[in-house]
Amino acid sequence: MGFVIAIDGPAASGKGSMAVRLGKALCLPVLDTGLLYRAVGVAVEQAGGDLDDETQSAAAAARLDLDDLESEAFRTRGAGEAASRVAVHPAVRAALLDAQRRFAAREPGAILDGRDIGTVIVPEAPCKLFVTATPETRARRRHLQLRAQNDPVTFEAILDDIRRRDTRDADRAAAPLRRAEDAALLDTTDLDIDAAFDAALRIVEASRGRWETS
Ligand code: CDP
Repeated sequence: MGFVIAIDGPAASGKGSMAVRLGKALCLPVLDTGLLYRAVGVAVEQAGGDLDDETQSAAAAARLDLDDLESEAFRTRGAGEAASRVAVHPAVRAALLDAQRRFAAREPGAILDGRDIGTVIVPEAPCKLFVTATPETRARRRHLQLRAQNDPVTFEAILDDIRRRDTRDADRAAAPLRRAEDAALLDTTDLDIDAAFDAALRIVEASRGRWETS
């Protein structure tokens, strides 16, 4: 295995932009695994299906085109909610497992961000980060993002979304959101994007040093 960086954490913790910046700095490909679940949720909804139905959701996951994940439709508030509902189904997670592991097996390495990368998808990753921040801070960030997309949603509604999604992600039986024992904890509550990136880069460089000499 190459140098794999597994980045997990709750909604709007900053892990996505951190993954992208690390990818550019280290010349490694990045997979935002949340997009896979978002795309499955959107596909089920567009087909008029039921997000709580495991068979329907797993069929949508099996049909997913992994080369077509760049739609704005996947970045909406509704898509995030739909994603967390289909993500509770073990058959959906199983259908998406191989593609994520194949991505992680790329040489000279890869960066994946999500909820279960360090615990389930690549537990042997040489570098693991668990990125978090208070729910209020995360809601503020997501509010700014959605307002920039002209979504008139209120801060309070987003805070509710985030709390509901945190609970659903952490309480589900299949691959719940939790920090792997060997993941470095990075709390970005008091860090802006640049400071969070610098902190992440220090952790990554230390892991890389250990990995290269092991
Ligand atoms: O960007 P944000 O953090 O709001 O969400 P995301 O990373 O795009 O993930 C959307 C939803 O997909 C999460 O709330 C999880 O329920 C689910 N997900 C997951 O279960 N496992 C992953 N590896 C990634 C996302």
